[in-house]
Amino acid sequence: MTEELEQYSNPLYLDLMSCCTRDDSEYEISQQALKGIVVDIGCGEGPFLPFMKGFTEYLGIEPIDFQRREAEKLAKQLGLNNCRFLPGTAQNLPIADNSADTIMTTYALSELTTIEDFKKALQEILRIAKDQTKLIICDHIGGINDDYWHILRLAEAARKGRMIAIETPDLWIEIFCFLNQHAEIRKTKRLKIVFEFKDLEDSLLKLRGMVPDIKSNPQVRENVKKFLTIPRIETQVFFVEAIINKAG
Ligand SMILES: C[S@@+](CC[C@H](N)C(=O)[O-])C[C@H]1O[C@@H](n2cnc3c(N)ncnc32)[C@H](O)[C@@H]1O
Repeated sequence: MTEELEQYSNPLYLDLMSCCTRDDSEYEISQQALKGIVVDIGCGEGPFLPFMKGFTEYLGIEPIDFQRREAEKLAKQLGLNNCRFLPGTAQNLPIADNSADTIMTTYALSELTTIEDFKKALQEILRIAKDQTKLIICDHIGGINDDYWHILRLAEAARKGRMIAIETPDLWIEIFCFLNQHAEIRKTKRLKIVFEFKDLEDSLLKLRGMVPDIKSNPQVRENVKKFLTIPRIETQVFFVEAIINKAG
């Protein structure tokens, strides 16, 4: 496993995200007018690119090289030549002050592991935003014992990796305190994403070999198999659209 994956994400969790459908959030993104320069924090492989419209330039910020390369490929396939993908983190965005017209972040803030890092990320959002920048945040809302944490625990057990992510109720408290102080909320919506694991072979195929020891380590394989016997997990996410107010 590469150091960057170890540092920024639980690779099995990334692969699990690739086994989910998120029709609700795709619909919400497709309804948004994303004007001007759009900054997508923790863009991953750019799964929302096919559903986005109206922007003049898209800047995807992503710490993992592999994810960025996949996003680049997708943009090319879609014929989008106004997209750039930059290495960086939410806590240290490679973007100038007061320059983003739209800021979006989907399922990425919950990858941060401390509240301090999370607060830094919100300060970075404020720094790169202009007055009246649109902010879109979509992330998990599961609490301890909810399905989301069930997934993370199983992912951790399968990988014997570290448990990543802030507890999502804490994350949303921080987000709403931030919005209360610096933004006007335009829309909040509870959405769902669905993980479906039809059979082990099918799901292992989807896991794309990013976890090298799935095949070679019988213990890891056994743990993954145990996990994949859960055929369907539906988890809740929260979608917020807000307008940043820097003038006041
Ligand atoms: C679950 S994926 C979501 C990716 C994409 N936004 C989506 O909706 O599918 C989380 C992404 O956040 C990235 N990430 C992890 N730590 C990060 C950090 N500190 N700053 C920005 N992105 C980070 C991961 O590399 C990964 O691509």
